[in-house]
Parts: sequence; structure tokens; C-alpha cells
Amino acid sequence: MKQMKCFYSRRFFECCCLLTVFAIEFVFGSSDLGPDPEVTLNAGTVVGAWRKSPSGSRYRQFLRLPYAKPPIGELRFKDNLKPVLVFVHGGGYRSGVSASFYYNPLHLMDTGDIVVVSFNYRLNLFGFFTLGDDAAPGNLAVRDSLALLQWVQKEIRFFGGDPKRVTVAGHSAGGAIASYLMYAPEAAGLFHALILLSGNILCPWAMQSTNTAEASQRVLESVGCHGGKSSDDIVECLQSVKVVVLQKAEEALERKGPLLPFYWTPSVDSGTSTPMFPQRITKDTPLVNKVPLMMGVTRDDGVVTAFSHLATKNYLNKLNSTWDEECADYLLFGDFADSQDAKRRCDAIRAEYFGPDDGQISFDQGFDFISLLRDQLFGICSADIASNALKFAPVYAYSFEHVPVDNSFLKLFLGSRVKATDQIAPEFDGSVHGSDVTTLFRLFILDFTRKPVDSALMSRVRSNFISRVVNFVKTG
Ligand SMILES: *[C@@H]1O[C@H](CO)[C@@H](O)[C@H](O)[C@H]1NC(C)=O
Repeated sequence: MKQMKCFYSRRFFECCCLLTVFAIEFVFGSSDLGPDPEVTLNAGTVVGAWRKSPSGSRYRQFLRLPYAKPPIGELRFKDNLKPVLVFVHGGGYRSGVSASFYYNPLHLMDTGDIVVVSFNYRLNLFGFFTLGDDAAPGNLAVRDSLALLQWVQKEIRFFGGDPKRVTVAGHSAGGAIASYLMYAPEAAGLFHALILLSGNILCPWAMQSTNTAEASQRVLESVGCHGGKSSDDIVECLQSVKVVVLQKAEEALERKGPLLPFYWTPSVDSGTSTPMFPQRITKDTPLVNKVPLMMGVTRDDGVVTAFSHLATKNYLNKLNSTWDEECADYLLFGDFADSQDAKRRCDAIRAEYFGPDDGQISFDQGFDFISLLRDQLFGICSADIASNALKFAPVYAYSFEHVPVDNSFLKLFLGSRVKATDQIAPEFDGSVHGSDVTTLFRLFILDFTRKPVDSALMSRVRSNFISRVVNFVKTG
């Protein structure tokens, strides 16, 4: 490794890209410090020096190692920094974690071209509980994400990242949080491109203000923090409740039905002094931050909720007679003018996905049901946000159809729920919700010892998808 002459030269003030390593070795009492220590890095061998601490510990000292090209000559005043990818994990606003055993970016690191940042945000009632006022404004998960992006602006250059080239990628509920940035004046300048993997804020599950407000009240009642007090008192009461008690209260919320809308989501917070969602974001809400967009769905995205229904063989048979109510309550997410409107739309959906002739819904239409859920939960809202964004910026859309080798997300969905042989699940091996994410990241959650192994085809798909993502992060 070529030594840079930095000290004692006019270039001293330009030499920022250096680091210093002190490596301690506990060898006491030795007076002979020995030959200079060497360490071989990928970029070459560096030579340091032995030193002795005041109390006699021997340590190796490596000074002024370049960690980037010297910012001299044509690089003077240039940011020799890499574009940044910030990943917002999914999990329905209630689960997931950014940890590397879950989302390991090792294949993204192979490209050597970008800096990857992932982070945790508050989930569940901790991320979304709301009283609709400044005492408990809700949307804390979204506020966490903004705080992270502000941190990136201040600090990422110290990790070699370029704060002026930040792409935010979100999957599922993470995509909903990421897409919110397009509508948020407070996010201006914090990001420069977006990747939305199967989910955005226009999806029917993404914002459930009424559910969230209701669930918040029910939690208050169940932990005894309700009734006649000011919001500040209520929050003070909540802060004294043990975490496990709050979790139990959350779990005890009665599930409404099989096609469950979420309880904890972003909510309209117009009653607060710094609202993030002055009103519900719809496809007519104007975009504020007009950035390039890469986005897509997976072929079998609908499996994410279909599995819990298809796990019992007679669900679809039963749906044949309960369709009108189930559809209105759980497919339209209450989003209809009146019962006539709901009936008209549900009839149309039934004809489209289950055939116009006899209108029968039965078990062997499992794949039609999966397609219906894909379109309803992810597809239509993706088309909506794309057509809105297209007016202002490039939009690159994909449909991810490959089935990853280990199909980790499928296994996560299956969990212990689906066991019996007469169900669709065991023989099903589709490109499920998350198959695009597991191509970008490795999920070691299901098997900590598993070595990354790809088939030849999977390797090709992986490097193809990753190079598209990385190119987008680099050039927008
Ligand atoms: C299924 O629903 C259709 C339409 O409501 C009805 O005509 C038919 O009789 C139902 N079939 C069964 C087996 O219940």
C-alpha cells in the first residue's frame, strides 16, 4: 500500500481519508518490542509500529491508513463518497427487525459500490398508539424513520456515504413508511430516490386511522389508564405500565375477522401541532418530493394473507356464501359509499377472479384467491402510486416472479400454522411476498448455520436484481 505523505507537507489539510488503528497485545514485562508488525488487508499490506503503554502493555499502532482515495488532485473538493441505501424493513407495522441475522446485506456488499443502512423503528402500539393530540401524537414509527434520515444527513459521510445520494427502500409496511416521504414537506432533502417493494401508503391496509384510534382506546381500558383524565395524565399512566402488560393488552384485542385489517398503522394526526398526516393520503394527494421511483410486486404477493385462509380447506367453500360480507368488511377495508356500492364492487371482484359463469368459489380456486389478494393488497395501490409519480419523475416497475432457492419468507408465513396434507400450502412454492427482499438480503433467521447457497439460476437472478437495484441507487 502506497504511503501517503501527509504530515509535514502542504497537503496536510487535504488528508481527511485516514484512520488510525490501535491493537492491544497484553504482553507485560518484555523489553524487546520486536520487528515492526504487519497486517495484510485486501488492498495490500500495511506496516505499523510496536508501542508500549505507560503501564507496560505492548500494542501495535497503525497510523494514517487511507480508507478512501486521497482527496487530492482532481478529487480536491469532490465528495469521494458512495451512494447510500437506507432499508426500512416490513412486518405489518408489528414485527420485523433490521438485524443482520434477519436482513443480511452481504450480496449488496459484493458490489462494493454502496453504503447500506438499516434501522429499527417502533412497532405495534409503541409505534402507533395515538390520542390524536400532542400528548400522544401517534405515527412514532414514521417519526423514527425521519429521525434516522436526519442522522444519515449528519453522520453518513463518516462511513463513506454521500448524504446527497440517499435512496430509501422499504418492503411492505416499510414501503408504506418510505412512500410517505414523497408526500412529506418535512422529508425534503433527506432522500433522493425511493424503492418500494410490495407496499406503499396508498395500499388499503396502510393507513387505518379509525382502527388505530379505537385500538388505542381499548388498550387504555384494558390497562386501566382510561376515563376522564387529561391526555397528559393518560400518557403518564401508560408510561408506568410494564411493557409486558401493554403487550398483553395488545394481544387481547379481539381479531375482527380472517382478512384482518391492521390495528396499528399510521393515522391522521391533524389534532397535533406538527402533523405528519394532516389527512389520509390518497391517490389524489399531491406529491411534494418528486424523486425517481423503483417499485414492484411479486407474482404471489397475496400469499401473505392467503395462507391463513387456505390453511383450512373449507375456507373458500364457505366464502362462497359469506362473500358479500367478507368482501365488504375485509377486502374493501370499509372503503365504500353505501351497501349498494359495496355490493356492486364485490360482485365485480367475484366475477373477475372467480369466473362470471356459475360464480362458485371453491377450494380449487386457491390461486385465484392469491391473485385477488395480490392485486387488492399490493397491485392496485402500486399502479396508483406509479401513475401519480410518473407525472414528475422516472418510474421503474418490476414484477418479481422468481422463486428464491430457500424461499425464506414462505417458511416464515407457514410457520407452524400449516401442517395438514390436504392444504394448498405444502406443495406451494411460489414467488411470495418478500421473495424480492430475500433476493436482495439473506435471511438467516430460519437457520443460523446455513451457508448461503444458490442454484446457478438463483445466482443469475440475484446478481441481475441486485445490479438493477444498485444501479438505481447510484444513478437514480
Ligand atoms: C355459491 O354461491 C352462489 C352465488 O351466491 C350460489 O348461487 C350457490 O348456490 C352457492 N353454492 C353453494 C354450494 O353454496
